[in-house]
Amino acid sequence: MRLTVEQIRFFHLNGFLNVTEPIASPDELAWMRDAYDGMFERKAGFESGDQFDLAGVDEEGKSAALPQVLNPLAYAPELSNGKYLQVANEIVQDLLGPEASVGVAHAIFKPAGHGAPTPWHQDEAYWEPNQQYTTVSVWMPLQEATVENGCLWFMPGSHYWELLPHQPIGGDVRVHGLELSDLAPIVDPVPCPLPAGGITIHHNRTLHYAGANTSDVPRRALIMMGGLPAKPAPRERRFPWQETRQTARAKRAERA
Ligand code: NI
Repeated sequence: MRLTVEQIRFFHLNGFLNVTEPIASPDELAWMRDAYDGMFERKAGFESGDQFDLAGVDEEGKSAALPQVLNPLAYAPELSNGKYLQVANEIVQDLLGPEASVGVAHAIFKPAGHGAPTPWHQDEAYWEPNQQYTTVSVWMPLQEATVENGCLWFMPGSHYWELLPHQPIGGDVRVHGLELSDLAPIVDPVPCPLPAGGITIHHNRTLHYAGANTSDVPRRALIMMGGLPAKPAPRERRFPWQETRQTARAKRAERA
């Protein structure tokens, strides 16, 4: 499967693309869902800091509102078996050229009925400040993604902007996830519902968001990331929101 010229143009103009033709088969998606659910059920990677609550502080005895697993292939290697990864790589090369590649980066789960929203952010806010990125995230739901269960929303054209100020969600330095400090720039956001195995692709500066899961089905998303190799930033940058963080995940990772 290759992108059309119109799709490539749309991505570069808008900073995102919604590809509704599935890149994984129903069979692949069925065993991927099993592997994915198992990873969250057994809290794989929790002790090493790879599993944590993106919307919370990992308080003991409290179930996560937005659990995330980094590097899921380390905990569910069978997730690499599908053809989807090869197709995703071909699509990303259509967008960024033959040197570009993506790998499975993380999994974000929104539990049925109470999965928390993912606030507006730019992915670059999480990364090393002194690098220059040409990166994409390829977001693939393992079941249908709808507005009700937490599909992604994008703000068209925001990938042309600078990185905006961020803060930990709710201003609490213990919370793992980040959000825009000021919501003012969000205008005409576009929801991108998808069938199971469809994908959205967005640039490292594209503003995006996902709503709470108010449905009775769990929302499972597998996220591939990559692009072109990062280069040193042209001038020094500081991300103050990274400097004040005190997360339980970082403490566990340090201990491990
Ligand atoms: Ni993101």
